[in-house]
Amino acid sequence: MELNLIERLIVMNPLRSFLQRVFEIPMLKRMSEERIYNLCLEIGAGRGTGAIAILNTFRPERIIAIDIDPRNIERAKRLLKGELKERIEFRTGDAMALDFPDQSFDAVFSTGVIHHLEDWKKGIREVSRVLKPSGDFFFEEPLRPFLESLPVRILTRHPEGGMFSLEEFKKVLEEAGLYIKKIKTLNQIAVAGVARKEHPSVNPLVSP
Ligand SMILES: C[S@@+](CC[C@H](N)C(=O)[O-])C[C@H]1O[C@@H](n2cnc3c(N)ncnc32)[C@H](O)[C@@H]1O
Repeated sequence: MELNLIERLIVMNPLRSFLQRVFEIPMLKRMSEERIYNLCLEIGAGRGTGAIAILNTFRPERIIAIDIDPRNIERAKRLLKGELKERIEFRTGDAMALDFPDQSFDAVFSTGVIHHLEDWKKGIREVSRVLKPSGDFFFEEPLRPFLESLPVRILTRHPEGGMFSLEEFKKVLEEAGLYIKKIKTLNQIAVAGVARKEHPSVNPLVSP
């Protein structure tokens, strides 16, 4: 679902980019066990600065970043100069119907996107489908109690099918074959972490 005007103003501005660069993406990096990811996918790229922060922080070979809103993709493409042109590709696409073959990516990133999907479970299944075996899914999402709070309901617009509690989120990840490696929660407001497409029993050194 596309953002309403107020959320566009919140998300599509330099402060949001700054927070992604200095706080969110480095936090996800600390959860990564220093793994190397060659090809990454970002779903819901917004203004495109998240993909650049992922590139600079995780140092993959390449990132493909998609967004449902062609205006965002046009804007993001304007960021591509020099080396970035070779390493980042922005394209329009739907996170609930990813236009990629199974097992394409080493890592998938979603910051604040799953809760915008009309069917968030479908989005999680798509993430799992396009991840390679033992690939990692990095996420950062607000939870249902926050999205249902009065100020958030008044100011923003979110699909009912995109809301989930922490327990629902973990359960659906697992049903999709994605097992939590690291997770941080901010009360019932938001969750961030990494889930791996690998059953914990496969690698006994890795804790569930
Ligand atoms: C809250 S913004 C987050 C943007 C960016 N990831 C960030 O952290 O600033 C949610 C983004 O998801 C995009 N989006 C919503 N539904 C989508 C879908 N079905 N497929 C891909 N992107 C979608 C919106 O256009 C918007 O750019």
